[in-house]
Amino acid sequence: MPKDDMLGPYSEKVMDHFMNPRNMGEIKDADAVGTVGNPACGDVMRLYLKVSDDKILDAKFKTFGCGAAIATSSMATEMIKGKTVDESLKITNEAVAEALDGLPPNKMHCSVLAQEAIEAAINNYKEKSDTKQTSDEK
Ligand code: FES
Repeated sequence: MPKDDMLGPYSEKVMDHFMNPRNMGEIKDADAVGTVGNPACGDVMRLYLKVSDDKILDAKFKTFGCGAAIATSSMATEMIKGKTVDESLKITNEAVAEALDGLPPNKMHCSVLAQEAIEAAINNYKEKSDTKQTSDEK
């Protein structure tokens, strides 16, 4: 089969991250967890973060979804590792798709899952650190 038939509408990078997802799994003692669902298709992504001094040291994900959702989850974890929480919040779904050399237009909605999971996990982290600060102040 010619190579292009295998890839279909997907870039080589999308196929690579789908076939060999980076950072798949769970962080047992995660500092933050975000779970989001895509109402359009019912797919779900959960993102685990290890954070220290507002810097993301580690990120892992579990995604129950299509190939594009898995590839964008994998790329998103690679993109946020080493960044601060505020830098990570600025990552758009378009940026994740671009880092994968693009997604077919009808699969762009899948990349939204990764962006929303980053937001959800960081909100969870911020909520937890606010609670910690308040109790430390007491
Ligand atoms: S079809 Fe559901 S995230 Fe792609």
